[in-house]
Amino acid sequence: MLSKENNELICRVGRGTPMGELMRQYWIPALPSDEFPAPDSPPKRMMLLGERIVMFRDSQGRMGALEEFCPHRGASLYFGRNEEGGLRCAYHGWKFDITGKCLDTPTEQPERRERFCANIKARAYPCHEVNHMVWVYLGSRQEPPPFPLFEINTLPPDYVAAPRVMMEEANWLQNMEGDLDSAHLDWVHRRLHEDSPKPEKGVRGFWNPTGKPPLLDVVATEYGAYYSAKRILKDGSEWHRVNQFIFPFHTMITTGDGNVNLRSFVPLDDEHAMLIMHTGHPTQRLSNEVRRAQGALFDEVGGYIERTNDPRTYFMTKANKRNDYGRDMKLQNELMFVGIPFVGNLQDRAMTELMTNDAGQAIYDRTKEHLSASDAMIVTVRRQLINAATKLRDEGKLPPNVDNVELDKVRSATVRYPAGSDWKALSETARRAIPGTAAAADVGLII
Ligand code: FES
Ligand SMILES: [Fe+2]
Repeated sequence: MLSKENNELICRVGRGTPMGELMRQYWIPALPSDEFPAPDSPPKRMMLLGERIVMFRDSQGRMGALEEFCPHRGASLYFGRNEEGGLRCAYHGWKFDITGKCLDTPTEQPERRERFCANIKARAYPCHEVNHMVWVYLGSRQEPPPFPLFEINTLPPDYVAAPRVMMEEANWLQNMEGDLDSAHLDWVHRRLHEDSPKPEKGVRGFWNPTGKPPLLDVVATEYGAYYSAKRILKDGSEWHRVNQFIFPFHTMITTGDGNVNLRSFVPLDDEHAMLIMHTGHPTQRLSNEVRRAQGALFDEVGGYIERTNDPRTYFMTKANKRNDYGRDMKLQNELMFVGIPFVGNLQDRAMTELMTNDAGQAIYDRTKEHLSASDAMIVTVRRQLINAATKLRDEGKLPPNVDNVELDKVRSATVRYPAGSDWKALSETARRAIPGTAAAADVGLII
């Protein structure tokens, strides 16, 4: 349970809010590279942490992100012409490059233009593109902090798939808390019986072989926290799923398929967050089969809705809360605990998007909850977030991983140890992203 005050503190992300300011200290993954297929391709609207921006790839192929509204008289730069090294506002032709530098103000008389232009600047956010993803820095430093060294950002590009994105229609935190809560695997993601086959749509349900609830063991770190959820296998050995939380909104959850991943819960505003799933292989090129499977992840549930001009409709799957996420009662009766296809976070969204506060906003009121031992990781991560946000607000102090990006070099792991083992000591290497080494994958997610 949280106080009303702390709940507001960790959920709200607009400019000037404590959590919003914490998030603005970091590079933020914004849109996949393929949204900007070529130099001078059409600009796209985007929204991050409640801020409206326009992103574009300039004539040299470099990515830019400008505040949506033109510094002249506020027309939307979304309608601007993207050509010859910048974005030219459609209203009166003022033009800006990716740094926000004013290149032209044609409404001024030619003799005054250069001087006038020198005093105008559009608000621009630095972009960094790597491994099929464009990241943006929304903070106030002149020189942005170092770029995060998550493994997914440091592997060769052909080891990494294009990111898959799923819009979640709820506050970022209630979405992310699912990744910190291993116990829900045994319920919302489970199959009905041990021998229930894979359904037509989605992956086969989860199965806990001995049915004993997982035991959580949590370790707070300077970059966030990691934890093990221990389950007992039929031979008595212990299966540890070791997952990571990294400030401000990233997780790594193990799937046991030998890949490494980064999952980012990026708020567009307080009631919408993208789940960006970025997957790669630590030691080899991704096969075409894996690439195709990643690309087609949501096809089984009908893919995405047609976008409107509101970024909150980007990556919205056709299966969503308006149609009960494609729930199929036959599937529920015969194969799965819940008849929603186990595809991406679709089942999770059915659980988290309907959590609201008294005003009916999709921002869960945590004054009403009753936590259990299986929520230990959630408790730790909330404490870490509250501490980090208030430390920044009150003392101007930052979590170490803003500047020490070496701390990003961690992994999740799924490991099997004899009963009574010291999992923390044994998994020390498996939890580090050591270049050229395989990811620990002793037990698959679905057994
Ligand atoms: S509002 Fe953009 S040039 Fe006038
Ligand atoms: Fe889940």
